[in-house]
Amino acid sequence: MQQNNNRAQFATRLGVIATTVGSAVGLGNIWRFPYEAGTHGGGAFLIAYLCFIFIFGIPILCAEFMIGRHTRSNIFGAFRQLKPTGHWHHVGYIGIVASMMILSFYSVVAGWTMEYLYQSVTGGLLLASPSDFDKQFVSFSTSNWRPLMWTLIFLSVNFLIVIRGVQKGIEKMSNIMMPILFVILLIFCVNSLFMPGAADGLKFLFSPDFSKLDSQVLLGAMGQAFFSLSLGLGTMLTYGSYFSNRTHIVRSATTTALLDTSVAILAGIIIFPAVFSFGISPAQGPALVFEILPNIFNQLPYSVVWSTLFFFLLFIASLSSTISMSEVTIAFFTEEKKMSRKKATIVNTAIAMVFGSICALSFGILGDFTICGHTVFSLFDYVSSNILLPLGGMLISFFAGWLLDRDIIRQQLTNKGAFKVYTYKAIIFSLKFIAPTGILLVFLSSLNLI
Ligand code: TRP
Repeated sequence: MQQNNNRAQFATRLGVIATTVGSAVGLGNIWRFPYEAGTHGGGAFLIAYLCFIFIFGIPILCAEFMIGRHTRSNIFGAFRQLKPTGHWHHVGYIGIVASMMILSFYSVVAGWTMEYLYQSVTGGLLLASPSDFDKQFVSFSTSNWRPLMWTLIFLSVNFLIVIRGVQKGIEKMSNIMMPILFVILLIFCVNSLFMPGAADGLKFLFSPDFSKLDSQVLLGAMGQAFFSLSLGLGTMLTYGSYFSNRTHIVRSATTTALLDTSVAILAGIIIFPAVFSFGISPAQGPALVFEILPNIFNQLPYSVVWSTLFFFLLFIASLSSTISMSEVTIAFFTEEKKMSRKKATIVNTAIAMVFGSICALSFGILGDFTICGHTVFSLFDYVSSNILLPLGGMLISFFAGWLLDRDIIRQQLTNKGAFKVYTYKAIIFSLKFIAPTGILLVFLSSLNLI
């Protein structure tokens, strides 16, 4: 059954978790979650997001892991192996397009992180008032060449790591950095809880106003759930293909989802009390976190140390996520198109550099170039997260629920009966009925068709 026995495998159980969490935790949690929650009304968004994580997210994560581990292949090869005559491998194209789009706009924000890291080290974040940070972000993000330069630098760093292969680079770094990031977030969280606007911030995040729960909020929350779990384009499927036969798929999926969600909620608890304390609107969009965080650091003793450490860890968290996206395209080029790893990595980076540059300039000279009211940056963000990832997820869950041999599912989820999985039936039920129809309904309602 297992072809390609010479494929790399994760060495340890901790390596599996650290790497999947490394992919899941990133700018999606710390930058995207607060800005999406902020523009979509806070509490109602959070509730919808949590439902999507637990009801759709974990089962689809299990589906990606099991398809990957069973076929030991990338998303194209996986579907081709399981359904040689069908068109299922075309799902892979959705994954390739989505991962290139995400890598492009994601690298811009990772580039902002590098600029803020640089500013932290050189004392550029020691400004006085919230409006100064607002001006600083605007003047930086509209300055064209600086964001462009950082985007290209970030993609070059990503290139250097990816070209070295799966295990060595990624596993080691995530193992050390992710726990440190978690501890730092906890410390900032406590600090935020003592701010004057803490009560208002927590109310905004945790007390849902269900009148705000319209179809756009649902679509946004669903997109955020997929984005945050790195779901729907084959990233986790590719990682599943590197799992050893002893890895407990359901436990790994649940742990990944729980850790990922805790990081997003911690980020919310850090950001929203500060938003209300500094009198800033929560609906700032992509700038939100970059305008709020420096204010928080500025209030702490040794602010330079905190902000440097934080932006460094955020940079590493972004890197472990872009590495995982790149892995999808690279596995495609090397295994399907028979390119060398080096050539595949170069092609992946070159495409991302072209589109990443356009995204970086969306805040400057290309700001007036819009499609359906979106700049290229926001179009890539919207289309990939809200449409392509859930669409991929819908197809993967449908496939796993209806077409995948039940014996394969049982073997994969229970490791040939070695584990008792209490949620087994619930997972199958979601993959068969709830996830595919639920995603379809959210799509239809966002198009005002129901
Ligand atoms: N989940 C990551 C984050 O939250 C981003 C990411 C990495 C991703 N790989 C992905 C998103 C694949 C979608 C698909 O930052």
